[in-house]
Amino acid sequence: MAVIGKDIEHAAKLLSKGGLVAIPTETVYGLAANAYNPDAVVRVFEAKNRPSFDPLIVHCHELEYANNFTTDWDEDAKKLADIFWPGPLTLLIQKRPQIPELVTSGMDRVAVRVPDHSLTLSLLKILDFPLVAPSANPFGYISPTSAQHVKDQLGDRIDYILDGGECEVGVESTIVGFDNNNPVIYRLGGLDIKEIESEIGKVILREYSSSNPQAPGMLTSHYSPRKKVVLGNIEELLIEFKEHKKGVLLYNNKSIETENKFVLTPSNNIREAAKNLFSALRSMDQLNVDLILAEYAPNEGLGLAINDRLMRAASQTK
Ligand code: TXA
Ligand code: MG
Repeated sequence: MAVIGKDIEHAAKLLSKGGLVAIPTETVYGLAANAYNPDAVVRVFEAKNRPSFDPLIVHCHELEYANNFTTDWDEDAKKLADIFWPGPLTLLIQKRPQIPELVTSGMDRVAVRVPDHSLTLSLLKILDFPLVAPSANPFGYISPTSAQHVKDQLGDRIDYILDGGECEVGVESTIVGFDNNNPVIYRLGGLDIKEIESEIGKVILREYSSSNPQAPGMLTSHYSPRKKVVLGNIEELLIEFKEHKKGVLLYNNKSIETENKFVLTPSNNIREAAKNLFSALRSMDQLNVDLILAEYAPNEGLGLAINDRLMRAASQTK
């Protein structure tokens, strides 16, 4: 069983030997391996049970370092990296040959980001290779926002878990690519698109589909608890599912009489809601209930990412 600790030297040693180490980031925990080592990358796919058509994000400690394995940066991409790294922004950039095909599922562009977490930045600085790191959960399940979440699900499949506390942002990074110089959002996430638009102008929001080869990981049913999730107006859902044993996930405080109630943000703050989202879904998944009823967050800013994750959690065929 993987030990939880804060020893970055130990983590670095394991990673250099092709091992798997869970790392904290500001968004969610990642399952890291040497991005230049195809054998180590294969182990990541195996540990997560992840299909190989779903490419991985490569992490490094600064923009300049990313030039070692990427090229042909769009000017706006560089501007975004300058402004928002380290931070919850992933950019799709033309890859260099050092990045194995397996990392990008054969595509020309590699997803790259500089995470905003001091422990992980210190680790990345002492390595002479970048790290692939998908979220450290079994494929399709909710992303982990604490070291213990990782241990619960992948503890017996990985070598070490670097403990950086609870993730501050709580939803994954926003993914941006450039199609003929036009910025496209491939995944809503922890960086508000309004902040991106205030730097580079209007962006296009890519519709997700499981058959979209440009974004193979954006499967409709994802980030999903094992329990059935039903999303909608909570008062109506409570009437409709009156007879069921259920958990209720509320956005903010409401005078609703029901058991197994969880409030995402008691102080009515969208950042707090995002931070709590995945651990709330995890806790509710462990309740002795038949289903989880949930309501939408306000559909703006970070709320777009929260609602995106809730819709995916709800769309799983169970
Ligand atoms: O916040 C995050 O981004 C976290 C932390 C650990 O950095 N990582 C994360 O990784 O969410 P993952 O693998 O769970 O999600 C990455 C998404 C997948 O949906 C994948 O399809 C997409 O990014 N992706 C990765 N590389 C891509 C590429 N070259 N082109 C298009 N999409 C890509
Ligand atoms: Mg993931």
